[in-house]
Amino acid sequence: MKRTRIAFYTIAVLIALQGCQQPADAPTTETTTANAGDLTLPVSLNAAMVGMIDHSADYIFALGNGDLPRNANDWHLVSNSAYEIVLGGAVIQIPGTGTFDQQWVEESEWIRLSQELTGIGEDAVRLAEAKSTEVEAWRSVGDRLIQNCLACHQQFKPEIPSDGILRGSTERQSRGISIFGY
Ligand code: HEC
Repeated sequence: MKRTRIAFYTIAVLIALQGCQQPADAPTTETTTANAGDLTLPVSLNAAMVGMIDHSADYIFALGNGDLPRNANDWHLVSNSAYEIVLGGAVIQIPGTGTFDQQWVEESEWIRLSQELTGIGEDAVRLAEAKSTEVEAWRSVGDRLIQNCLACHQQFKPEIPSDGILRGSTERQSRGISIFGY
């Protein structure tokens, strides 16, 4: 029984190694490039806003309000959120299933603000990795972040969300209750 399993693994490893030996100009490379241009999000930009960007921004704002992480897990939440902002700026340059998504991503101002969002996220990543407890530094990143959100919303956000998805509850924060657990 044990021997059969070892034999199976050997075959699997050999197959895997063969895969690696494909020449660099194998057809797979071409397919990847062609797909990249046609890439669409499986959700609307409205959903990406609520599920990704808004959620992670809350963690950045919390630190700027003096709600500091208390343990390693809290710092993970902050660091993940900072990376989500970095990535979020890239994600929203890709259209999803929303009615206006395609139209928005074709606007140069949309792209500029998305890139700015990524840049602000990068600054948040630096603070998170240094586990900075400098509230002023976090506040300054938070201020730039909110300016970025507002600038884009003023220009592009329709009055009623195109996909019907509304901002989730940030009740804890608005009531001054810590975003982190107890
Ligand atoms: C590049 C433009 C852009 C940036 C930057 C941006 N948003 Fe948005 N956001 C939009 C648009 C457009 C919508 C409306 C989407 C829809 O209805 O399809 C939206 C919708 C939302 C919604 C859901 C609608 C609502 O009112 O509840 C939330 C929440 C949101 N954004 C939060 C944020 C936050 C927080 C930031 C900054 C950290 C941010 N957004 C940055 C363009 C942007």
